[in-house]
Amino acid sequence: MLSEYLLSHFQQVPSGSALALNRQLYLALRDALRQGKVAAGERLPSSRDLAHDLQLSRNTVMTALQQLEAEGYVYTQTGSGTYVSDNIPMSMARPSVPWVTSAANSTLSKRAQSLRDLGDSQTLEVQPFTQGPPDFGSFPLPLWQKLQNKHWRMTYPDMLDYNPSGGFAPLRRAIADHLRLSRGLQLDSQQVIVTSGTQQSLSLCAQVLADVGDPVWVEDPLYWGAAKALLASGVELLPIAVDDQGMNLAATQGQAVPRLIYLTPSHQHPTGAVMTLARRHQILQQAHAQGSWIVEDDYDSEFRFSGPPLSSLQGLDPEGRVLYMGTFSKALYPGIKLAYLVVPKVLVEPFLQLHYDLNRPGQVPMQAAMAEFIALGHFATALRRARQHYSLRRSSLLAALQPCLAQGATISGAEQGLHLCLNLPSHMDDQALAAQAHKAGLTVRALSSYCLKRRDLRGLVIGYGYAPLSSIERDGPVLAQLVCGALG
Ligand SMILES: Cc1ncc(COP(=O)(O)O)c(C=O)c1O
Repeated sequence: MLSEYLLSHFQQVPSGSALALNRQLYLALRDALRQGKVAAGERLPSSRDLAHDLQLSRNTVMTALQQLEAEGYVYTQTGSGTYVSDNIPMSMARPSVPWVTSAANSTLSKRAQSLRDLGDSQTLEVQPFTQGPPDFGSFPLPLWQKLQNKHWRMTYPDMLDYNPSGGFAPLRRAIADHLRLSRGLQLDSQQVIVTSGTQQSLSLCAQVLADVGDPVWVEDPLYWGAAKALLASGVELLPIAVDDQGMNLAATQGQAVPRLIYLTPSHQHPTGAVMTLARRHQILQQAHAQGSWIVEDDYDSEFRFSGPPLSSLQGLDPEGRVLYMGTFSKALYPGIKLAYLVVPKVLVEPFLQLHYDLNRPGQVPMQAAMAEFIALGHFATALRRARQHYSLRRSSLLAALQPCLAQGATISGAEQGLHLCLNLPSHMDDQALAAQAHKAGLTVRALSSYCLKRRDLRGLVIGYGYAPLSSIERDGPVLAQLVCGALG
């Protein structure tokens, strides 16, 4: 079977191809594995058999297999053969993720088709429990308008140019001060790059630090926005399961540590798991030893309601292996499209240059208004107010969900952020339950829809940032009743 597939694949390679035979075989085998032609844990035909079937030298076959082993696609067991590993990197070429939703339009590039197929992007629905958006209603809009107007009046023509410096200097300083104080970061403002969103920050990290085809460790389940930004940058996702202590590093044993690792250590998205201190130190040590870079997405740490205060992974890192990403999307409003990336000192110069070359950043007057918003204490006030609102909504939701806990559900990730995860037994159909909730006018997301390779997770991801308290008080019990009915 495998030999037949490989033979037909070889026939597609133009004769006289500049690619060495071992490279051609490696590519064909890699495609076969990614397409699931041989399942995880299954043994490959012996190198002798492959060489015979494909009319190649055994050396050619062995070289291809060694390359696959080095990249973690297969492993050998002495005396018994070569087996397909559990952690096949996922690529644009692999459509077999559970998120696949639509037939691809053949006029698009393969990349665009795969990105479209990789789950829906959750357009904003004005409904209770929508996960993601904060409460726009509590944002101090009149004050913001006043500041914007003031800075547009003060704008002089040079401020309409692109922004080559990583952002408006007073804003970079204000962000650095805020992060030093509230997140324990070690930084100076030169390390801050203002971007137009977390996806831009992450794409930049992937483009600058990884090559096309490089594997990147990501958490499974995973934020779809990170998955798409990474895949669009040409890297491959190597999903690592998350448990209640964050990314499970034991599952990576035997794998080479990749150049890039993407983590949400303070509030794993979407399970809410907090990465333990022991695992934080372990991954920092691994990154240091292997020369890898960790991208820390700290998207909602402004809102911490219970549990011990958590500092950032960047703040624990003496070696400068962490790139830290934050955003104003949750703290203020998503359409502000203002985020920041903090890079280690050694990376400041290339990141500034490539951020400029790839994005041509601008928005100087808006950034000036934002700098003043922070400097005058409005940001701190807005956060304090928002925390109070969210804290009440969270308590109301937690109270409403109590009956579900008595029937076997558990809650994770309620200590911080704007969503929590209601974990359900693994035999349940969480997507059907989410669809049922949707019919009742409640927007929740199925936990399984965030999974890349895992099949064991079921639950509902429930937001409490967007809906007002009155709506949570009214609709929380409705949701709980629905879940209890399904739990039976
Ligand atoms: C894990 C994660 N990171 C970042 C963001 C926000 O990113 P942006 O700055 O692009 O709005 C979100 C939004 O839901 C998220 O879930």
